[in-house]
Amino acid sequence: MTMLEAEKINCYYGNVQALWDVSLKVEQGEIVALLGANGAGKTTLLNAITGLVKPASGHIFFMGQSIDGISPQNVMEKGIAYLPEGGRLFPDMSIRENLELGAYPMNMWKSRNASIDRMFEMFPKLKERQKQMASTLSGGEKQMLAMARGLMSNPKMCLFDELSYGLAPIMVIEVFKIVKMLKEQGITVLLVEQNVKQSMEIADRAYVLENGRMALEGHCCDLLDNDYVKKAYLGL
Ligand SMILES: Nc1ncnc2c1ncn2[C@@H]1O[C@H](COP(=O)(O)OP(=O)(O)O)[C@@H](O)[C@H]1O
Ligand SMILES: [Mg+2]
Repeated sequence: MTMLEAEKINCYYGNVQALWDVSLKVEQGEIVALLGANGAGKTTLLNAITGLVKPASGHIFFMGQSIDGISPQNVMEKGIAYLPEGGRLFPDMSIRENLELGAYPMNMWKSRNASIDRMFEMFPKLKERQKQMASTLSGGEKQMLAMARGLMSNPKMCLFDELSYGLAPIMVIEVFKIVKMLKEQGITVLLVEQNVKQSMEIADRAYVLENGRMALEGHCCDLLDNDYVKKAYLGL
């Protein structure tokens, strides 16, 4: 089954066009990487999918249903968790409080304690520090907390924007391990990254955006062998 489909999305900021006829498909259970340089339009596409930016034209479907014009809250209730760039935690709230906020839609609030226990199993470090303010965590731990908060809504699909950005190499490995774990749990993932090599290693397929246009798509094993990808994105 196709989980997410964006069809010929065009987006503008004022008069400036940021996305040109961009299409993308993610099948259920896949990890798909959306790659591209800074300014390519990756975040704009995620914002269009999640209702934060309104496309001038094009369509978005989630599990076969149109979600055009849907509100960000509604997107979450449909089963899509969106982790914006930088995580957007509440720095002066504790780890536990940040997690609770991930369960704010009414039907998830009732089971928040069970969800928090589930997150503590997946992220044991967060359990040890549950009373600590989010601002006191390291960069990698903050990213883990942001992931856990997103997972509090029990999503069918996760959209991650630049999960690995600014993290120490060892934390990049940890964060990508969690992404693989999500796949094993049956959660579909769209992974926006500038870290081309490592994200292609865990993804099934990848799309490459260049200047607001989809330049390439394919299975990661083929793309890693593609001369253009090697030269432009892998520095080989
Ligand atoms: N809020 C905004 N207002 C005006 N231009 C924007 C805004 N957000 C992004 N852009 C522009 O849209 C283009 C795509 O940006 P973005 O989607 O953030 O790219 P990426 O996430 O791939 O780095 C860039 O040229 C960027 O400058
Ligand atoms: Mg971005």
